[in-house]
Formats: sequence, C-alpha cells, structure tokens
Amino acid sequence: MTDGAWEGARGNREVPPQDEKKGARGGNLVSPTGAKRRVVLTGAGGQLGRALAETFGTDELRALGRSDWDVTLPSPPLLTPDLVLHAAAWTDVDGAESDPQGAAAVNVGGTQNVASLGAPLVYYSTDYVFDGSKREPYVESDGPNPLSAYGRTKLHGEAAAGERAWIARSSWLFGPVGHNFVRTMLRLGAERDEVAVVDDQCGSPTYVAHLAEATRELVGLPFGVYHLTAQGECTWAEFAEAIFEDAGLDTRVRRISTEGLGRPAPRPAYSVLRSEKPETPVLPNWREGLRACLDELSTRS
Ligand SMILES: NC(=O)c1ccc[n+]([C@@H]2O[C@H](COP(=O)([O-])OP(=O)(O)OC[C@H]3O[C@@H](n4cnc5c(N)ncnc54)[C@H](OP(=O)(O)O)[C@@H]3O)[C@@H](O)[C@H]2O)c1
Repeated sequence: MTDGAWEGARGNREVPPQDEKKGARGGNLVSPTGAKRRVVLTGAGGQLGRALAETFGTDELRALGRSDWDVTLPSPPLLTPDLVLHAAAWTDVDGAESDPQGAAAVNVGGTQNVASLGAPLVYYSTDYVFDGSKREPYVESDGPNPLSAYGRTKLHGEAAAGERAWIARSSWLFGPVGHNFVRTMLRLGAERDEVAVVDDQCGSPTYVAHLAEATRELVGLPFGVYHLTAQGECTWAEFAEAIFEDAGLDTRVRRISTEGLGRPAPRPAYSVLRSEKPETPVLPNWREGLRACLDELSTRS
C-alpha cells in the first residue's frame, strides 16, 4: 500500500405494526394509547449506531453494543421490540477478503438472529452490492453484483433480514466518532503537507446524522429496498480536498489510482445511488453533511 494513500475504509406485541402482511407499511409504530415505541438498536457503539441513538432518543430505546449483544449469538432474553434498527456489522472491507466466513457470520448469521426477534427491522446495506460498471446512479431495481467478500455478505444479509424489513442502502458513511474518512483526513492533514488519495472511485459521502434522520421517515414507508444517500457525488480525492478546505487546512491532495493503492478488496469505480421511489426521504448534499460534521466536531473539542 502506498504510504499516505487513502480511500474510504470503510415488541412490544401490544403495539403491532399497522399491517403484518408482506409489503405492508411498517411505520407509524405509535400506540393508540400514546405509549412509547420500543426500539432495539444493534451496533450502538458504531458511527451510525451513535447517530441513531441520538435521533431515536425520544423512543423507549435499548441501545445495544457488541458487549450487550454479539449478534452472531441468539438474542438476549426479554427483547420484545416494536422496531429494530440493525446497525451492527462487520465493516472491515479488506479484512473480509481474508476471513469471508467471519464477515458472513456477522453480516448474514447476525442479521438472521436479529430478524428472529420478529419485529419490523431496518437493515443498513451498502453501495458495495453493485459492481460499479454503470456510469449513472444505481436505482433500487438495478441488479446487484458485488465485487468483494464484504459486498457479498451484505447482499446476503439483505435477504436474511426477511420480508418485514426496510433495506436502507447507503454509502461512504462519516460522522464525528468512529473510523471514517473525514476523521482520518483531519488527522493526516494536521500531520502532513500532502496526502495521496484515490481519484477513480466515485460515490456519495453520507453524514450519519442525516441517515439517522432519514431512518425516522423510512419506517413510515412500506417495507422494501431504499437507496438513502446524500445528494451529489465526488471522488475520494475531491472529498479529501473539500475536507481540507472546510477545515481550513493547507494540505495538498495528490490524486492516485485505486490500483496504486493496492488494497485487497476490489471496490466499485462508480457507486452513486439514487432512489427511483418518489416517497424515499431526500438527504442533504454531501457538502452540507461535511459542514455539519465539522461543526459537530468543533463543538465537541
Ligand atoms: N461505513 C460505511 O461507509 C458504510 C457504507 C454503507 C453501509 N454501511 C453499513 O452501515 C452500517 C453501520 O456502519 P458503520 O459505518 O456505523 O460501522 P461501524 O462504525 O464499524 O459500526 C459497526 C458496529 O458493529 C459492531 N459489531 C461488529 N461485529 C459485531 C457483532 N458480532 N455483534 C455486535 N456488534 C458487532 C462494531 O463493534 P466493534 O466496534 O466492537 O467492532 C461496531 O460498533 C453497517 O451495516 C454497514 O455495513 C456502512
């Protein structure tokens, strides 16, 4: 790997959903008596998990990190949610190439265990289910063809989520905590004059707080697959330049190819997602997400 070269790593049964049938709306899970909906969140320690915990904080939330529930194991007792937000996943894209069974145990087996709770489920999936050969945005009806072991496990995880699920495909997540491209660039930018970044992969960087907000709307829609990413698109190099510009850093970006980076897992060259469903929540542009993330980081420091 080139030194300094980067790309995105990467029921309460008292209150049933309105309709239990396949394809029915699962949203509006509010009790007629006004009781709070019981929400179980997996992967609560991850970057999306943290954002979801804030956004769903007004619900009766059980936010479970890996130490509370390793999802490769059966669920803990007495979990009876109205809604499950499944944000736990094996997200080490390169690590999945050398341990595909390990990745599948979490992303497929873990999702089966989570679906076994029997409650409506939000499963977060990825742009890496596509091969990137298209040159215009992927929509929900496009056929997946993952290039990597990670992408394959996430695609099988979509099926494992079952029929009472919203499959929320997103991309290039970043936020104020956890491992992500924005935090990596801010660290490198403070240390170096120049950073080499790949310029031949195009996607839509999505701010986790915007995805969490969109999830609130999503659970009012019929079950199914939804593409939920920020508006706009860029390469990793363009993303890095925007990060340095908005953070007031002078760091230069040297544009390199994916081949030059020599990562184990193949990535799609083009993985911009758009929704063909008119009811899909619209997220802000990625530049707006970046500014919101940098603002959040500055208030935390
Ligand atoms: N990151 C992206 O760019 C991206 C893009 C598209 C879709 N997604 C999807 O979005 C979701 C959230 O991703 P993220 O970026 O928030 O990932 P993340 O920051 O890596 O968080 C994933 C969380 O899952 C936990 N986890 C891993 N294995 C587990 C297990 N066996 N049992 C319970 N928890 C486990 C991790 O715990 P540890 O910290 O202890 O490992 C971590 O807290 C995932 O489904 C991911 O596939 C991510």
